[in-house]
Amino acid sequence: KVLILDFGSQYTQLIARRVRELNIYCEIHPFNKIPVDSESYKAVILSGSPNSVRGESVLHPDLSQIRGKKPLLAVCYGAQYLAHFSGGLVEESNSREYGRAHLSYIKQDEDFFTGITKGSQVWMSHSDTIKQLPTNAVLIASTHDVENAAFKIAGETTYGIQYHPEVYHSTDGGQLLQNFLVHIAKVEQDWTPQSFVEESVDTLKETLGNDKVVLGLSGGVDSSVAAMLLHKAIGKNLYCIFVNNGLLRKDEYTSVLQQYEGMGLNVKGVDASARFLDALASISDPELKRKAIGRTFIEVFDDEAHAIKDVKWLAQGTIYPDVIESVSATGGPSATIKSHHNVGGLPDFMKLKVVEPLKALFKDEVRRVGKSMGMDPNILGRHPFPGPGLAIRILGDITPEKVRILQDVDAIFIENLKSWNLYDKVWQAGAILLPVHSVGVMGDERTYEKCVALRAVESTDGMTADWVNLPYEFLQKTSNQIINKVKGVNRVVYDISSKPPATIEWE
Ligand code: XMP
Repeated sequence: KVLILDFGSQYTQLIARRVRELNIYCEIHPFNKIPVDSESYKAVILSGSPNSVRGESVLHPDLSQIRGKKPLLAVCYGAQYLAHFSGGLVEESNSREYGRAHLSYIKQDEDFFTGITKGSQVWMSHSDTIKQLPTNAVLIASTHDVENAAFKIAGETTYGIQYHPEVYHSTDGGQLLQNFLVHIAKVEQDWTPQSFVEESVDTLKETLGNDKVVLGLSGGVDSSVAAMLLHKAIGKNLYCIFVNNGLLRKDEYTSVLQQYEGMGLNVKGVDASARFLDALASISDPELKRKAIGRTFIEVFDDEAHAIKDVKWLAQGTIYPDVIESVSATGGPSATIKSHHNVGGLPDFMKLKVVEPLKALFKDEVRRVGKSMGMDPNILGRHPFPGPGLAIRILGDITPEKVRILQDVDAIFIENLKSWNLYDKVWQAGAILLPVHSVGVMGDERTYEKCVALRAVESTDGMTADWVNLPYEFLQKTSNQIINKVKGVNRVVYDISSKPPATIEWE
């Protein structure tokens, strides 16, 4: 495995994903928390950082246990710090070095650059620059503006590059990572979905033995893949619970439950719609809605978990981005671990031991693992859907009638995206019921009915998003269908706001 030491760069997770693409397992740790078993890592990568090497020395870890002891690749800030640490000089650059550049010089006999030629495009993003290399360093690449674009420490497998190979604009970035990890560091490329499944199933069997495990299924990708893995490991000792909160998409409760049963899962469907709608009665505030739903879910789930005799474990579909410890922008170590929207305070079943079979995986890897277990592409390709469901897409208070209207509108929109082959091109889509009535005319009659907004976004992780340029003809047909078929709606609008400054959901 490979160790990535994070100095807080926005690209650190991208480094990890590029390494994983090479079928090599890697972990991200904060720069100041080098893992105790650091011996077991075959190579180390230092990330970039928004900070300056010339700034506070808080971002200056002792590299003596790593440099020269194992293969080391330092990127951007990492390279500047490596130079600084090794006796070189880093200064503020006269020109800010951002964006595309091209390698104007490459030292040809370097394994590091196998398959990469002069002219290769690289991505720069730094305002400091290495003015003077350490005395024992050899210059191995330059760009027009940056002389010391890449260097190597003589006699060691230690490399520094001031550009970002992990960014896709660095055309040969993947090749460079492969050269370093596979050819120089000799790391094996054995991290595949199949090997992950085999190893996880073995570990789960060993950890769980004959114990019973309870898992809440949501219909989403993560909990479904986690369930399949556990099912492979412990079969009927996995007790899945799928709660209908009455705020799912139209017919979703029955169709998803059927899919789960078809997968051979031991799953109990609990229709608690009435209980949720009661708890939500006359609440309009978005955060109060989330709280009411969270609380009710916990009550329902707790009741169901109690009904399983001698259950010992709670399984969760937590994935890697949720557990990576972040390094704060000020450079200070930060203890915050991102918590998922839905994971609030959990009562009785919280006393159970927790098992999280996906916590080493990125989202795209979760999908690949699911695929390698033969799971239905319809489950793996599902758009993300918020835990509070349609409750936060009905602005204002919630009534069964409004839920019915929104379910019908949403079903038409999603069905159309599928039949136009647009569903897989969109990251998330849905409809929002606005607390607005507007005047319309149907036949000879004036109407005064509800307005819905359609939202479809492109994104990679939901942190930023852009609205999708859906074809006008698609919007036209969908709008007509909604107004003709869904009683109570006489107006449809399309949301053309990006995040930031807007958010994906309206509440
Ligand atoms: P926003 O609206 O913040 O949403 O741009 C970003 C992503 O998070 C989802 N979301 C939620 N998911 N519980 C969830 O499980 C919530 O309370 C919640 N609020 C927003 C949203 O659907 C989008 O994918």
